[in-house]
Amino acid sequence: MSASSAPQKLVSAPVAHLEGRVRAPGDKSISHRALMFGAMTVGETTIEGLLEGEDILSSAAALRLLGASVERVGEGAWRVRGVGVGGFREPPDVLDMGNSGTAARLLSGLIASHAFTSFMTGDASMRRRPMMRVIEPLSRMGARFVSRDGGRLPMAVTGAPTMMPIEYRLPVASAQVKSAVLLAALNTPGETTVIEPEPTRDHTERMLEGFGADVRTRKLDDGARAITIVGQPELGGNRHIVVPGDPSSAAFAVVAAAIRPGSDVMVENVGINPTRAGLYETLREMGAALSFENQRVTGGETVADIRVKGGGLKGVDVPPQRAPTMIDEYPILAVAASCAEGVTRMQGVAELRAKESDRLASVAAGLEANGVRFEIGADYLNVHGGAVPGGGLVTTHLDHRIAMAFLVLGLAAKTAVAVDDGAPINTSFPGFVALMNALGTEIGNG
Ligand code: S3P
Repeated sequence: MSASSAPQKLVSAPVAHLEGRVRAPGDKSISHRALMFGAMTVGETTIEGLLEGEDILSSAAALRLLGASVERVGEGAWRVRGVGVGGFREPPDVLDMGNSGTAARLLSGLIASHAFTSFMTGDASMRRRPMMRVIEPLSRMGARFVSRDGGRLPMAVTGAPTMMPIEYRLPVASAQVKSAVLLAALNTPGETTVIEPEPTRDHTERMLEGFGADVRTRKLDDGARAITIVGQPELGGNRHIVVPGDPSSAAFAVVAAAIRPGSDVMVENVGINPTRAGLYETLREMGAALSFENQRVTGGETVADIRVKGGGLKGVDVPPQRAPTMIDEYPILAVAASCAEGVTRMQGVAELRAKESDRLASVAAGLEANGVRFEIGADYLNVHGGAVPGGGLVTTHLDHRIAMAFLVLGLAAKTAVAVDDGAPINTSFPGFVALMNALGTEIGNG
Protein backbone atom coordinates (compact mmCIF):
# COMPACT_ATOMS: atom_id res chain seq x y z
CA MET A 1 0.00 0.00 0.00
CA SER A 2 1.18 3.52 -0.74
CA ALA A 3 1.15 4.57 2.90
CA SER A 4 3.57 1.89 3.98
CA SER A 5 5.70 1.40 0.85
CA ALA A 6 8.92 3.37 0.33
CA PRO A 7 8.54 6.68 -1.53
CA GLN A 8 9.09 6.23 -5.22
CA LYS A 9 10.56 9.29 -6.94
CA LEU A 10 9.48 9.75 -10.57
CA VAL A 11 10.78 12.13 -13.23
CA SER A 12 9.04 13.32 -16.40
CA ALA A 13 11.20 14.69 -19.22
CA PRO A 14 10.08 17.12 -21.93
CA VAL A 15 8.85 15.47 -25.15
CA ALA A 16 7.87 16.84 -28.58
CA HIS A 17 4.34 15.48 -28.88
CA LEU A 18 2.08 12.54 -27.97
CA GLU A 19 0.33 10.11 -30.25
CA GLY A 20 -1.72 6.95 -29.96
CA ARG A 21 -4.80 5.28 -28.59
CA VAL A 22 -5.30 4.11 -25.00
CA ARG A 23 -8.17 2.88 -22.87
CA ALA A 24 -9.16 4.70 -19.68
CA PRO A 25 -9.01 2.62 -16.47
CA GLY A 26 -12.26 1.79 -14.65
CA ASP A 27 -14.11 4.58 -12.87
CA LYS A 28 -13.12 4.82 -9.21
CA SER A 29 -16.44 6.21 -7.94
CA ILE A 30 -18.49 3.62 -9.81
CA SER A 31 -16.16 0.76 -8.79
CA HIS A 32 -16.59 1.52 -5.07
CA ARG A 33 -20.35 1.66 -5.49
CA ALA A 34 -20.55 -1.55 -7.52
CA LEU A 35 -18.84 -3.48 -4.70
CA MET A 36 -20.81 -1.80 -1.90
CA PHE A 37 -24.23 -2.11 -3.49
CA GLY A 38 -23.49 -5.70 -4.50
CA ALA A 39 -22.63 -6.38 -0.84
CA MET A 40 -26.06 -5.04 0.22
CA THR A 41 -27.97 -7.20 -2.26
CA VAL A 42 -29.25 -10.71 -1.76
CA GLY A 43 -27.88 -12.53 -4.77
CA GLU A 44 -24.80 -12.37 -6.92
CA THR A 45 -23.40 -9.26 -8.59
CA THR A 46 -20.81 -9.72 -11.31
CA ILE A 47 -18.69 -6.75 -12.30
CA GLU A 48 -16.48 -6.18 -15.31
CA GLY A 49 -14.00 -3.35 -15.80
CA LEU A 50 -13.60 -2.80 -12.05
CA LEU A 51 -10.75 -0.46 -11.16
CA GLU A 52 -8.21 -2.53 -9.26
CA GLY A 53 -6.61 0.43 -7.50
CA GLU A 54 -5.71 0.44 -3.82
CA ASP A 55 -8.75 2.57 -2.91
CA ILE A 56 -11.12 -0.04 -4.30
CA LEU A 57 -9.20 -2.86 -2.61
CA SER A 58 -9.77 -1.00 0.69
CA SER A 59 -13.52 -1.07 0.07
CA ALA A 60 -13.38 -4.76 -0.88
CA ALA A 61 -11.47 -5.69 2.28
CA ALA A 62 -13.89 -3.75 4.51
CA LEU A 63 -16.93 -5.37 2.89
CA ARG A 64 -15.41 -8.82 3.53
CA LEU A 65 -14.93 -7.94 7.20
CA LEU A 66 -18.61 -6.95 7.26
CA GLY A 67 -19.60 -10.41 6.00
CA ALA A 68 -19.98 -10.09 2.22
CA SER A 69 -18.17 -12.40 -0.18
CA VAL A 70 -16.08 -10.29 -2.58
CA GLU A 71 -13.88 -12.22 -4.99
CA ARG A 72 -11.67 -11.39 -7.95
CA VAL A 73 -12.35 -13.87 -10.75
CA GLY A 74 -10.23 -12.34 -13.53
CA GLU A 75 -8.69 -9.07 -14.67
CA GLY A 76 -11.21 -6.40 -13.66
CA ALA A 77 -13.78 -9.17 -13.20
CA TRP A 78 -15.25 -9.51 -9.70
CA ARG A 79 -18.07 -11.43 -8.05
CA VAL A 80 -19.91 -10.18 -4.96
CA ARG A 81 -22.35 -12.26 -2.92
CA GLY A 82 -24.25 -9.83 -0.76
CA VAL A 83 -25.86 -10.07 2.67
CA GLY A 84 -28.99 -7.99 1.95
CA VAL A 85 -29.99 -4.56 3.29
CA GLY A 86 -29.31 -4.52 7.06
CA GLY A 87 -27.42 -7.83 6.90
CA PHE A 88 -23.84 -6.82 7.77
CA ARG A 89 -22.19 -8.40 10.84
CA GLU A 90 -19.86 -6.87 13.41
CA PRO A 91 -16.42 -6.63 11.75
CA PRO A 92 -13.82 -8.67 13.64
CA ASP A 93 -11.08 -6.11 12.92
CA VAL A 94 -10.51 -2.40 12.22
CA LEU A 95 -11.84 -1.20 8.85
CA ASP A 96 -8.77 0.31 7.17
CA MET A 97 -9.81 2.75 4.46
CA GLY A 98 -6.24 3.43 3.31
CA ASN A 99 -6.16 6.65 1.27
CA SER A 100 -9.83 6.56 0.27
CA GLY A 101 -12.29 9.25 1.32
CA THR A 102 -15.04 7.62 -0.74
CA ALA A 103 -14.59 4.28 1.05
CA ALA A 104 -14.56 6.00 4.47
CA ARG A 105 -17.59 8.24 3.91
CA LEU A 106 -19.82 5.76 2.05
CA LEU A 107 -19.04 2.88 4.42
CA SER A 108 -19.82 5.15 7.39
CA GLY A 109 -23.31 5.46 5.92
CA LEU A 110 -23.59 1.71 5.42
CA ILE A 111 -22.58 0.73 8.95
CA ALA A 112 -24.48 3.57 10.68
CA SER A 113 -27.72 1.61 10.36
CA HIS A 114 -26.33 -1.63 11.85
CA ALA A 115 -26.55 -2.17 15.60
CA PHE A 116 -22.90 -3.01 16.25
CA THR A 117 -19.69 -1.11 16.78
CA SER A 118 -17.01 -0.79 14.08
CA PHE A 119 -13.63 0.91 14.21
CA MET A 120 -12.38 2.79 11.17
CA THR A 121 -8.98 4.22 10.30
CA GLY A 122 -6.93 5.17 7.24
CA ASP A 123 -3.48 6.30 6.10
CA ALA A 124 -1.83 9.54 7.24
CA SER A 125 -3.67 11.52 4.54
CA MET A 126 -7.07 10.00 5.39
CA ARG A 127 -6.55 10.55 9.12
CA ARG A 128 -6.29 14.30 8.46
CA ARG A 129 -9.49 14.56 6.39
CA PRO A 130 -12.84 15.76 7.75
CA MET A 131 -15.37 13.10 8.78
CA MET A 132 -17.66 15.52 10.64
CA ARG A 133 -19.51 16.08 7.37
CA VAL A 134 -20.88 12.51 7.60
CA ILE A 135 -20.88 12.23 11.42
CA GLU A 136 -23.30 15.13 11.64
CA PRO A 137 -26.20 13.82 9.48
CA LEU A 138 -25.69 10.18 10.48
CA SER A 139 -25.83 11.17 14.19
CA ARG A 140 -29.12 12.92 13.52
CA MET A 141 -30.41 9.61 12.16
CA GLY A 142 -29.40 7.86 15.41
CA ALA A 143 -25.84 6.52 14.96
CA ARG A 144 -23.13 7.33 17.52
CA PHE A 145 -19.53 8.25 16.75
CA VAL A 146 -16.39 8.65 18.82
CA SER A 147 -13.65 10.26 16.76
CA ARG A 148 -10.39 12.08 17.25
CA ASP A 149 -10.51 15.80 17.76
CA GLY A 150 -12.27 17.67 14.94
CA GLY A 151 -14.02 14.57 13.60
CA ARG A 152 -10.86 12.84 12.38
CA LEU A 153 -10.12 9.12 12.00
CA PRO A 154 -9.63 6.76 13.72
CA MET A 155 -13.20 6.65 14.91
CA ALA A 156 -15.68 4.21 16.36
CA VAL A 157 -19.17 3.95 14.88
CA THR A 158 -22.06 2.41 16.81
CA GLY A 159 -25.03 1.95 14.57
CA ALA A 160 -28.64 2.43 15.63
CA PRO A 161 -30.99 -0.59 15.68
CA THR A 162 -33.68 1.64 14.18
CA MET A 163 -32.61 4.75 12.34
CA MET A 164 -34.74 7.86 11.98
CA PRO A 165 -35.44 9.28 8.54
CA ILE A 166 -34.31 12.89 8.03
CA GLU A 167 -34.43 15.64 5.49
CA TYR A 168 -30.89 16.91 5.04
CA ARG A 169 -29.65 19.89 3.04
CA LEU A 170 -25.98 19.43 2.16
CA PRO A 171 -23.86 22.23 3.62
CA VAL A 172 -21.01 21.34 1.21
CA ALA A 173 -21.40 20.12 -2.38
CA SER A 174 -20.30 16.54 -1.71
CA ALA A 175 -21.39 13.35 -3.45
CA GLN A 176 -19.72 11.41 -0.66
CA VAL A 177 -21.91 13.00 2.03
CA LYS A 178 -25.01 12.67 -0.14
CA SER A 179 -24.22 8.99 -0.71
CA ALA A 180 -23.49 8.28 2.98
CA VAL A 181 -26.97 9.54 3.93
CA LEU A 182 -28.69 7.73 1.04
CA LEU A 183 -27.00 4.44 1.95
CA ALA A 184 -27.97 4.79 5.61
CA ALA A 185 -31.50 5.60 4.39
CA LEU A 186 -31.84 2.24 2.65
CA ASN A 187 -31.94 0.54 6.05
CA THR A 188 -34.11 3.24 7.69
CA PRO A 189 -37.90 3.03 7.87
CA GLY A 190 -39.74 5.80 6.01
CA GLU A 191 -38.45 8.35 3.55
CA THR A 192 -35.10 10.10 3.84
CA THR A 193 -34.37 13.11 1.64
CA VAL A 194 -31.08 14.74 0.74
CA ILE A 195 -31.22 18.19 -0.82
CA GLU A 196 -28.25 19.27 -2.88
CA PRO A 197 -28.04 22.96 -3.84
CA GLU A 198 -25.56 22.15 -6.61
CA PRO A 199 -25.57 18.89 -8.58
CA THR A 200 -22.78 16.50 -7.58
CA ARG A 201 -21.97 13.17 -9.23
CA ASP A 202 -25.12 11.05 -9.34
CA HIS A 203 -23.69 7.54 -9.61
CA THR A 204 -25.27 6.47 -6.29
CA GLU A 205 -28.78 7.42 -7.39
CA ARG A 206 -28.37 5.83 -10.82
CA MET A 207 -26.90 2.58 -9.55
CA LEU A 208 -29.28 2.20 -6.59
CA GLU A 209 -32.17 2.46 -9.03
CA GLY A 210 -30.50 -0.18 -11.17
CA PHE A 211 -30.41 -2.42 -8.09
CA GLY A 212 -34.15 -1.94 -7.59
CA ALA A 213 -34.23 0.71 -4.83
CA ASP A 214 -37.05 3.27 -4.71
CA VAL A 215 -35.20 6.54 -5.51
CA ARG A 216 -37.18 9.70 -6.31
CA THR A 217 -35.53 12.85 -7.57
CA ARG A 218 -37.21 16.21 -7.98
CA LYS A 219 -36.15 19.76 -8.66
CA LEU A 220 -37.08 22.37 -6.04
CA ASP A 221 -38.17 25.96 -6.72
CA ASP A 222 -34.74 27.32 -5.77
CA GLY A 223 -33.09 25.04 -8.35
CA ALA A 224 -31.81 22.54 -5.76
CA ARG A 225 -32.27 18.79 -6.28
CA ALA A 226 -34.07 16.67 -3.68
CA ILE A 227 -33.31 12.95 -3.66
CA THR A 228 -35.60 10.74 -1.63
CA ILE A 229 -34.99 7.10 -0.72
CA VAL A 230 -37.74 4.89 0.61
CA GLY A 231 -36.19 2.74 3.30
CA GLN A 232 -35.84 -1.01 3.56
CA PRO A 233 -36.44 -2.17 0.03
CA GLU A 234 -35.63 -5.67 -0.99
CA LEU A 235 -32.48 -5.39 -3.03
CA GLY A 236 -32.43 -8.72 -4.72
CA GLY A 237 -31.64 -10.54 -7.89
CA ASN A 238 -28.47 -11.10 -9.81
CA ARG A 239 -26.94 -8.09 -11.50
CA HIS A 240 -24.14 -7.51 -13.96
CA ILE A 241 -22.33 -4.17 -13.89
CA VAL A 242 -20.04 -2.84 -16.58
CA VAL A 243 -17.83 -0.09 -15.13
CA PRO A 244 -17.08 2.70 -17.62
CA GLY A 245 -13.66 4.37 -17.88
CA ASP A 246 -12.87 7.14 -15.42
CA PRO A 247 -13.06 10.72 -16.77
CA SER A 248 -10.87 11.89 -13.88
CA SER A 249 -8.09 9.45 -14.87
CA ALA A 250 -8.55 10.03 -18.61
CA ALA A 251 -8.02 13.75 -17.91
CA PHE A 252 -4.26 13.25 -17.49
CA ALA A 253 -3.78 11.80 -20.98
CA VAL A 254 -6.20 14.30 -22.51
CA VAL A 255 -4.44 17.33 -20.99
CA ALA A 256 -1.02 15.85 -21.81
CA ALA A 257 -2.01 15.80 -25.48
CA ALA A 258 -3.76 19.19 -25.37
CA ILE A 259 -0.66 21.02 -24.08
CA ARG A 260 1.74 19.59 -26.69
CA PRO A 261 1.22 21.03 -30.21
CA GLY A 262 1.24 18.30 -32.85
CA SER A 263 -0.24 15.67 -30.52
CA ASP A 264 -3.09 13.41 -31.60
CA VAL A 265 -4.48 11.07 -28.94
CA MET A 266 -7.60 8.97 -28.49
CA VAL A 267 -8.68 7.90 -25.01
CA GLU A 268 -11.31 5.19 -25.33
CA ASN A 269 -14.29 4.38 -23.14
CA VAL A 270 -14.49 7.51 -20.97
CA GLY A 271 -17.57 8.21 -18.85
CA ILE A 272 -19.00 11.61 -19.81
CA ASN A 273 -21.82 11.86 -17.26
CA PRO A 274 -22.49 15.65 -17.09
CA THR A 275 -21.96 15.61 -13.31
CA ARG A 276 -18.33 14.60 -14.02
CA ALA A 277 -17.52 16.36 -17.29
CA GLY A 278 -16.68 19.93 -16.19
CA LEU A 279 -13.01 19.67 -17.15
CA TYR A 280 -13.87 18.76 -20.73
CA GLU A 281 -16.21 21.75 -21.02
CA THR A 282 -13.44 23.97 -19.63
CA LEU A 283 -10.81 22.58 -22.01
CA ARG A 284 -13.13 23.30 -24.93
CA GLU A 285 -13.56 26.87 -23.71
CA MET A 286 -9.76 27.11 -23.53
CA GLY A 287 -9.68 26.24 -27.23
CA ALA A 288 -8.68 22.57 -27.02
CA ALA A 289 -9.45 20.51 -30.13
CA LEU A 290 -11.49 17.87 -28.34
CA SER A 291 -14.23 15.62 -29.65
CA PHE A 292 -16.44 12.94 -28.10
CA GLU A 293 -16.67 10.10 -30.62
CA ASN A 294 -18.67 6.87 -30.70
CA GLN A 295 -21.00 7.88 -27.85
CA ARG A 296 -22.89 4.98 -26.30
CA VAL A 297 -24.45 3.89 -22.99
CA THR A 298 -22.58 1.38 -20.82
CA GLY A 299 -23.96 0.24 -17.45
CA GLY A 300 -26.41 3.18 -17.31
CA GLU A 301 -23.68 5.77 -17.98
CA THR A 302 -22.85 7.54 -21.27
CA VAL A 303 -19.31 6.87 -22.48
CA ALA A 304 -17.33 8.20 -25.43
CA ASP A 305 -13.91 7.91 -27.02
CA ILE A 306 -12.23 11.27 -26.52
CA ARG A 307 -10.01 12.50 -29.33
CA VAL A 308 -7.72 15.42 -28.62
CA LYS A 309 -5.21 17.30 -30.74
CA GLY A 310 -2.55 19.47 -29.15
CA GLY A 311 -1.98 23.19 -28.99
CA GLY A 312 -3.76 26.55 -28.97
CA LEU A 313 -4.89 26.80 -25.34
CA LYS A 314 -5.96 30.16 -23.90
CA GLY A 315 -6.68 31.09 -20.27
CA VAL A 316 -10.34 31.26 -19.13
CA ASP A 317 -12.42 32.03 -16.05
CA VAL A 318 -13.81 28.84 -14.54
CA PRO A 319 -17.09 29.63 -12.75
CA PRO A 320 -17.53 28.44 -9.14
CA GLN A 321 -20.78 26.59 -9.91
CA ARG A 322 -18.86 24.24 -12.20
CA ALA A 323 -16.58 23.08 -9.37
CA PRO A 324 -18.58 20.00 -8.27
CA THR A 325 -18.48 18.61 -11.83
CA MET A 326 -14.68 18.77 -11.98
CA ILE A 327 -13.66 18.76 -8.33
CA ASP A 328 -10.88 16.20 -8.84
CA GLU A 329 -9.59 17.86 -12.02
CA TYR A 330 -8.23 21.18 -10.72
CA PRO A 331 -4.63 19.92 -10.35
CA ILE A 332 -4.53 18.86 -14.01
CA LEU A 333 -6.44 21.98 -15.07
CA ALA A 334 -3.72 24.05 -13.33
CA VAL A 335 -1.20 22.22 -15.54
CA ALA A 336 -3.20 23.00 -18.69
CA ALA A 337 -3.46 26.62 -17.50
CA SER A 338 0.34 26.81 -16.99
CA CYS A 339 0.80 25.99 -20.69
CA ALA A 340 -2.02 28.24 -21.98
CA GLU A 341 -1.73 31.80 -23.18
CA GLY A 342 -3.00 34.24 -20.54
CA VAL A 343 -4.52 33.78 -17.10
CA THR A 344 -6.89 31.05 -15.91
CA ARG A 345 -8.98 31.95 -12.87
CA MET A 346 -10.43 29.12 -10.77
CA GLN A 347 -12.99 30.30 -8.23
CA GLY A 348 -15.05 28.65 -5.50
CA VAL A 349 -12.52 25.89 -4.95
CA ALA A 350 -12.15 25.84 -1.14
CA GLU A 351 -13.20 22.16 -1.14
CA LEU A 352 -9.83 21.33 -2.68
CA ARG A 353 -8.35 21.89 0.75
CA ALA A 354 -10.24 18.81 2.07
CA LYS A 355 -8.94 16.32 -0.50
CA GLU A 356 -6.13 13.73 -0.27
CA SER A 357 -3.91 16.74 0.46
CA ASP A 358 -4.71 20.44 0.73
CA ARG A 359 -4.79 20.53 -3.05
CA LEU A 360 -4.80 24.29 -3.40
CA ALA A 361 -1.60 24.47 -1.36
CA SER A 362 -0.04 21.40 -3.06
CA VAL A 363 -0.77 22.75 -6.55
CA ALA A 364 0.56 26.19 -5.65
CA ALA A 365 3.78 24.69 -4.22
CA GLY A 366 4.23 22.59 -7.36
CA LEU A 367 3.72 25.60 -9.64
CA GLU A 368 6.16 27.62 -7.56
CA ALA A 369 8.81 24.87 -7.76
CA ASN A 370 8.52 24.92 -11.56
CA GLY A 371 8.57 28.67 -12.15
CA VAL A 372 4.85 29.14 -12.95
CA ARG A 373 3.29 32.42 -11.72
CA PHE A 374 0.05 32.25 -9.73
CA GLU A 375 -2.08 33.96 -7.09
CA ILE A 376 -3.80 31.92 -4.40
CA GLY A 377 -6.52 32.73 -1.85
CA ALA A 378 -8.79 30.87 0.56
CA ASP A 379 -10.98 29.66 -2.30
CA TYR A 380 -9.33 30.70 -5.57
CA LEU A 381 -6.28 30.07 -7.69
CA ASN A 382 -5.18 32.16 -10.69
CA VAL A 383 -2.55 30.60 -12.94
CA HIS A 384 -0.49 32.63 -15.42
CA GLY A 385 0.34 30.60 -18.50
CA GLY A 386 3.35 30.72 -20.78
CA ALA A 387 6.61 28.86 -21.28
CA VAL A 388 7.09 26.61 -18.23
CA PRO A 389 10.68 26.52 -16.90
CA GLY A 390 10.17 23.25 -14.95
CA GLY A 391 13.12 21.67 -13.15
CA GLY A 392 11.28 21.45 -9.82
CA LEU A 393 10.81 18.64 -7.32
CA VAL A 394 7.15 18.48 -6.31
CA THR A 395 5.98 17.12 -2.94
CA THR A 396 3.10 14.68 -3.41
CA HIS A 397 1.73 14.63 0.20
CA LEU A 398 0.21 11.12 -0.39
CA ASP A 399 -1.95 12.66 -3.14
CA HIS A 400 -2.16 10.64 -6.38
CA ARG A 401 -3.57 13.51 -8.44
CA ILE A 402 -0.75 15.86 -7.44
CA ALA A 403 1.78 13.25 -8.57
CA MET A 404 0.07 12.60 -11.92
CA ALA A 405 -0.63 16.27 -12.68
CA PHE A 406 2.97 17.39 -12.22
CA LEU A 407 4.33 14.46 -14.21
CA VAL A 408 2.17 15.78 -17.05
CA LEU A 409 3.61 19.27 -16.54
CA GLY A 410 7.11 17.82 -17.05
CA LEU A 411 6.45 16.76 -20.63
CA ALA A 412 5.70 20.36 -21.65
CA ALA A 413 8.34 22.13 -19.49
CA LYS A 414 11.81 23.28 -20.57
CA THR A 415 13.46 21.02 -17.98
CA ALA A 416 12.22 17.73 -16.48
CA VAL A 417 9.83 17.81 -13.50
CA ALA A 418 10.18 15.35 -10.59
CA VAL A 419 7.69 14.21 -7.95
CA ASP A 420 9.01 12.94 -4.63
CA ASP A 421 6.60 10.00 -4.44
CA GLY A 422 4.70 8.35 -7.27
CA ALA A 423 3.51 5.41 -5.14
CA PRO A 424 0.08 7.01 -4.35
CA ILE A 425 -0.75 6.82 -8.08
CA ASN A 426 -1.65 3.18 -7.41
CA THR A 427 -4.67 4.28 -5.36
CA SER A 428 -6.58 5.32 -8.50
CA PHE A 429 -4.53 4.59 -11.62
CA PRO A 430 -2.24 1.56 -11.51
CA GLY A 431 -0.52 1.47 -14.89
CA PHE A 432 -0.46 5.26 -15.28
CA VAL A 433 3.24 5.44 -16.16
CA ALA A 434 3.06 2.64 -18.75
CA LEU A 435 -0.08 4.11 -20.35
CA MET A 436 1.43 7.58 -20.59
CA ASN A 437 4.74 6.30 -21.90
CA ALA A 438 2.87 4.33 -24.58
CA LEU A 439 1.62 7.73 -25.81
CA GLY A 440 5.16 9.12 -25.91
CA THR A 441 5.90 10.59 -22.47
CA GLU A 442 9.23 9.84 -20.83
CA ILE A 443 8.37 9.16 -17.22
CA GLY A 444 10.83 7.07 -15.25
CA ASN A 445 12.46 6.52 -11.89
CA GLY A 446 14.47 9.45 -10.64
C1 S3P B 1 -16.34 11.06 -4.95
C2 S3P B 1 -16.75 12.33 -4.69
C3 S3P B 1 -15.84 13.49 -4.64
C4 S3P B 1 -14.48 13.19 -5.25
C5 S3P B 1 -13.96 11.84 -4.88
C6 S3P B 1 -14.94 10.75 -5.26
C7 S3P B 1 -17.33 9.98 -4.94
O1 S3P B 1 -15.67 13.88 -3.29
O2 S3P B 1 -13.55 14.18 -4.87
O3 S3P B 1 -12.71 11.60 -5.52
O4 S3P B 1 -17.03 8.87 -5.44
O5 S3P B 1 -18.45 10.20 -4.45
P1 S3P B 1 -16.75 14.86 -2.59
O6 S3P B 1 -18.08 14.33 -2.89
O7 S3P B 1 -16.45 14.83 -1.12
O8 S3P B 1 -16.48 16.22 -3.20
